[in-house]
Amino acid sequence: SEWFQAISFLTEVGHITDDKRQEFILLSDTLGLSMLVTSQNNRKPSNCTEATVFGPFFVAGAPVYENGDDISNGASGAPCYVKGQVRGADGAGISNAWLDVWQSDEDGFYDVQRKDADGKVDHRGRGRLKTDAEGYFNFRSILAEAYPIPHDGPVGRMLAATGRHPWRPAHLHFMIQAPGYETLITHVFRDGDQYLDSDVVFGVRSTLITDWVRHEPGTAPDGREFSVPWYTLDYDFVLNPSETPA
Ligand code: BEZ
Ligand code: FE
Repeated sequence: SEWFQAISFLTEVGHITDDKRQEFILLSDTLGLSMLVTSQNNRKPSNCTEATVFGPFFVAGAPVYENGDDISNGASGAPCYVKGQVRGADGAGISNAWLDVWQSDEDGFYDVQRKDADGKVDHRGRGRLKTDAEGYFNFRSILAEAYPIPHDGPVGRMLAATGRHPWRPAHLHFMIQAPGYETLITHVFRDGDQYLDSDVVFGVRSTLITDWVRHEPGTAPDGREFSVPWYTLDYDFVLNPSETPA
């Protein structure tokens, strides 16, 4: 009966999988397999930024922004200013590195989970931008919040049956690409989040956790006035040189 239960479960995972929903990858994520493969494929010196899981919510060809722009595009959440530098292991800034950034809104939904009446997706809380001549980047977005992964299918039932919750701690996704360096796919996590020790997809690395500083209502770095608290996140990334020269 255990064998049959396992076959039935995998059959259900197959039945709910289509071109929009990939329950097999979600199963791999929630069993820790995706993170294991990510770790095995991203061995690098300890001073380089660690990789973590890709997740299903990346969109290729997201809108391109300039440094200083607001990538939230109307997504709901507390204002958050993000800045940092992309460097090589030698400490030198990497100019013209492409950053893809994506995140959920304050209700825990990515733009691709919210379609308008025509089934179209308006890109919110995601974008692409390039580092400047010294490798610096900065943009405005919203504060990332913890959210549950899709758990209305067999993976959700597996989690419930094994006494696990479906939550991911608050995080901001990055994919960083520059010629001559390995592509870095990672997140930055918010210190203090209640799910840091029990991320449902095992994606947290202590080096990726940082303080997202809360500021009282007032004037933000770009001169905007906020009547609500706003946040700043400052995080630098170190890329590993690729074996194949640029
Ligand atoms: C994410 O962080 O977007 C994610 C990762 C793995 C499974 C579901 C969501
Ligand atoms: Fe995510």
